[in-house]
Amino acid sequence: MNKLAMIVAAAENEVIGINGDLPWQLSADLRRFKRLTMGHHIIMGRKTFDSIGRLLPGRTTVIVTRQSDFVCDGALIANSIEEAIALCGEDDLPFVTGGAEIYRLAIPFVNEIHLTRVHTEIDGDTKLPEIEWNDWTLVEESSFQKDEKNSFDYSFQTFTRS
Ligand SMILES: NC(=O)c1ccc[n+]([C@@H]2O[C@H](COP(=O)([O-])OP(=O)(O)OC[C@H]3O[C@@H](n4cnc5c(N)ncnc54)[C@H](OP(=O)(O)O)[C@@H]3O)[C@@H](O)[C@H]2O)c1
Repeated sequence: MNKLAMIVAAAENEVIGINGDLPWQLSADLRRFKRLTMGHHIIMGRKTFDSIGRLLPGRTTVIVTRQSDFVCDGALIANSIEEAIALCGEDDLPFVTGGAEIYRLAIPFVNEIHLTRVHTEIDGDTKLPEIEWNDWTLVEESSFQKDEKNSFDYSFQTFTRS
């Protein structure tokens, strides 16, 4: 079976979203997202797709929805996380890109997590689902300070599990 990755940015209180959007401006995180996901399938919930509002170039978007009649030109549609993963075919590293509902469904199938830990506690209405971190090994980490394009200090972390 191919590997499956998950990519997420979360505050220290696990908040990942507010009012259907991201709670911060972190251009370095968006660049990392683009670099890692380019050329791959990206699996996202219908609400996250609505929030992005367009297909991201250079990637194949798989939208997960319960709606049997949902259509989106240029995207693949799945009615379950299992179907979404199957639609990624021979891609050697599809990415689960959220939001919380889709992370929760996908975590049992994920082999690596690309986490941007945003070093703040922030208000929000959507949180990263619980992850059993004891099962995961931190294999890469780099930390950065806030600047004019990134509103908080942040760390890029990569975790794997066998
Ligand atoms: N910080 C980050 O890295 C990050 C990443 C992504 C998203 N976000 C944020 O997260 C928030 C959105 O997350 P969310 O949890 O509200 O929504 P979501 O996971 O993006 O999408 C939820 C939708 O997925 C579909 N769905 C859920 N369970 C399903 C199942 N079992 N089978 C088939 N379809 C299913 C449903 O679509 P239908 O209603 O169409 O049936 C549901 O409404 C936004 O604020 C966004 O900005 C943050």
